[in-house]
Amino acid sequence: MTTQDTTLLTGDTLASASGDDFLALLERRHSTRMFKETPVSQELISRMVKAATLLPTSCNRQLWHFIAVTEPDLKRKVSKLSDAQQSYLYDAPVLIAVFYDTSLETRNPCCTAEVTVGMSISALLLAAEAHNLGAIYLGGIRRPAGIGKALGVPPYLKCFGLVCVGWKDDEPPAPNRRPVQDVLSFNTFDLQHERYRADIRPHLWTLEQIADFRDKLLWYKGVHIDGKTLHVDADVRFSPLFQFMTTRLGLMLENVATPRVLDVLSFNGDVVMQLITAYNGQMAELYAYDLTPGIARYITERFERLRLPGTCTCLVNAEANQFLIPLPDGHIQIMSCYERLEHFEDPLPLLREMRRVLAPGGRLLLLVSNRYYPHMYRYKRMRNKNYSLGRNWNRGPERKYEPAQVERLLREAGFRITDAFGLQPVHLKMYDLGIKLCRRLGWHRLADRWADRVMQGYVTDGFFRTFSSTLAYELE
Ligand SMILES: Cc1cc2nc3c(=O)[nH]c(=O)nc-3n(C[C@H](O)[C@H](O)[C@H](O)COP(=O)(O)O)c2cc1C
Repeated sequence: MTTQDTTLLTGDTLASASGDDFLALLERRHSTRMFKETPVSQELISRMVKAATLLPTSCNRQLWHFIAVTEPDLKRKVSKLSDAQQSYLYDAPVLIAVFYDTSLETRNPCCTAEVTVGMSISALLLAAEAHNLGAIYLGGIRRPAGIGKALGVPPYLKCFGLVCVGWKDDEPPAPNRRPVQDVLSFNTFDLQHERYRADIRPHLWTLEQIADFRDKLLWYKGVHIDGKTLHVDADVRFSPLFQFMTTRLGLMLENVATPRVLDVLSFNGDVVMQLITAYNGQMAELYAYDLTPGIARYITERFERLRLPGTCTCLVNAEANQFLIPLPDGHIQIMSCYERLEHFEDPLPLLREMRRVLAPGGRLLLLVSNRYYPHMYRYKRMRNKNYSLGRNWNRGPERKYEPAQVERLLREAGFRITDAFGLQPVHLKMYDLGIKLCRRLGWHRLADRWADRVMQGYVTDGFFRTFSSTLAYELE
């Protein structure tokens, strides 16, 4: 080996100061989802866009255009067209909409326009970090054409998403990264280990954080969606899902003379309220269990206001960082749990606790949704702003479950599945669209027929069970 070869192999030669700085910048950058209200100067935005224009484009076409949206009404409009649920769109003082003229690159099978735009976006994100700004790219925007129209962009420019930019109001933990040796091969593909399956849950919540989030959601009341403030709704719910629950619970209740009934993680008490309204007098005891005294107080005050024909005992989890339902073993004959398991990274302790308090021969109706919603920023944001933004305001984090996973957990906790249903199978969503279209065209008879079909098919134990938005289990 020559002296020159050895020099090439030493760390000193490999690491240059600017190389280290560059890697440090990349390591420092994380998506920012919480922003201060402080505005960002046009000068800084221009510097970010300058960085974007320095990245390669196919044939150096440079067919991009960037629009920095700062005017509040326009920003709200663009946010709504993008995704009303993602609060950082509303909070960030600047949205940079990224456009590209794809018309010249349509025949290229290598998606050159998409690659070019992706490169420019990464430059925007890195330039933001280099200037101590926070930024996040949002790719899943709902109505790119609508955004183009709202911003007066000619139709030949296509919107490729938005970059939210502003001063950071959070230091989120670094997301995990796969080690280089797992993703790099020299010369031929030499992967030795199993194919990588991403775990896209970046932030794990502690039980105390979940408890605090649920408590505050109830008491802050302000739930902003699309700039409107909604309130925790005190009306009894009549959704098909709730109808299913009360009907099935009613069938279970019929077989026990004066049952002791428990609703697990009751939140605002909707399920308990339905039970009081529908089955008052048939229950020896009705319990609502949740994680904090604040939630118990909320339910108590709500029920006093509503003057319901009965009442329930509110139970509070007896430990801060583990599940402990304050009831003796085998005390409960009928139990319900409505879309709550998915809050927890490991729901087995909760299921075991539910099993413990269920009497031999007792029955449990368990509903599990399969949505996905993990980010801790919602909790932090709510603590800062006293309200939460988003459709899932009454839940906390959510983890997506496949039926096989749920069934394994249930068996592990000691339950036997007696019935399993899918609620709201996805193919019914197509009917919903059809119904809307028919109504618009004035074809009400067809719309009515389809609406009936949706209601008939709402509950299924057939093929579409796996493709349903909620799974329902009857257990003992
Ligand atoms: C193509 C693409 C689309 C993305 N869309 C969204 C989005 O719609 N909402 C969101 O919160 N984050 C979105 N992100 C950000 C990613 O969730 C984020 O980059 C990833 O979790 C890694 O975290 P980090 O950016 O902090 O390293 C998107 C990222 C990319 C590359």
